[in-house]
Amino acid sequence: MLEIKDFDLIYRTEKGVMAALRKINLTINRGEVLGLVGESGCGKSSLISSILRLLPENAGVAGGEIRLGGTDMLSLSENEMRRLRGRDISIVFQNPMSALNPVLSIGRQMEDIQFRESVSRAEKRERAAAMLSEVGIPDASRRLRQHIHELSGGMRQRVAIAMALMARPSLLIADEPTTALDATLEVQIIEKLKALQEEIGCSILFITHHLGVVAELCDAVAIMYAGEVVETGSVERIFGAPRHPYTRRLIACDPAHIGDPSRVLPTIPGEVPKLYDLPGGCVFRPRCEVAVDECARTHPELYEMDAGHHAACIVARGEKS
Ligand SMILES: Nc1ncnc2c1ncn2[C@@H]1O[C@H](COP(=O)(O)OP(=O)(O)O)[C@@H](O)[C@H]1O
Ligand SMILES: [Mg+2]
Repeated sequence: MLEIKDFDLIYRTEKGVMAALRKINLTINRGEVLGLVGESGCGKSSLISSILRLLPENAGVAGGEIRLGGTDMLSLSENEMRRLRGRDISIVFQNPMSALNPVLSIGRQMEDIQFRESVSRAEKRERAAAMLSEVGIPDASRRLRQHIHELSGGMRQRVAIAMALMARPSLLIADEPTTALDATLEVQIIEKLKALQEEIGCSILFITHHLGVVAELCDAVAIMYAGEVVETGSVERIFGAPRHPYTRRLIACDPAHIGDPSRVLPTIPGEVPKLYDLPGGCVFRPRCEVAVDECARTHPELYEMDAGHHAACIVARGEKS
């Protein structure tokens, strides 16, 4: 479905050209939910902006490929890309207000998003009401007449998710869509999302720092660190047998709480290196407790640990699984 190969992204800044994403390799299969995890500043948003081609002015693609269902996204025209964003890819951001128009009623916006469907306005309205009910909004027909400022934060995000799913996308990209919500609400929305994902059969790229959400919603996980993907595998492998020291620090501490939706990324000592000050060798080495001398010299590739489970660590590669 989505295939990212050796993708490199740079930002031009006053400090020079910074390699923000380096040799990113990632695949999402049809109908698969991939969780993208990593501390703030690791490049998660840069990666989805690259996929969507919504990059800031000072960004540049320095190499690699991004393909959606075989289409080379990096070579599409702006128009073709816009069409793709409306039809094949939907997006939910952390702030629902960025997707919603304050001056139009919710119903009007949900009708408009169905502009490609050749059905009557009344039918579109009915579909919109049905989708609102699906994401757990009671009294949907009344809600359709309201404006976004009349709704609570949780309701707004539900509307944003309903809008994103209305287009029945083949890929839904969600950048921390539930982070601003309280834990109970978050669980409810994730459950809805999961049910709708199964019904529509879309793939999801889900960014969150809630590990419980990853365990609940995702099939596969990619761990990012300082602009690189450092581990990928099934949710069972990543939570049950993480191999990269960074993943272990993030995840392995208390498996008993994996299902706890309020569980967020633990704070680990040190910080993500700045892009203008990346260490040579392994980027995680300055924070790593198991680093050996070679880690300062050799930049690790994603080595296969078990079938479908990769980690970029020479120490892990030397361990028995
Ligand atoms: N337009 C930009 N120009 C320069 N640096 C940027 C720009 N956008 C993001 N960055 C830097 O790129 C890195 C990754 O940022 P981001 O993709 O937002 O990470 P995340 O979403 O994981 O928090 C950070 O070091 C951030 O400061
Ligand atoms: Mg981000």
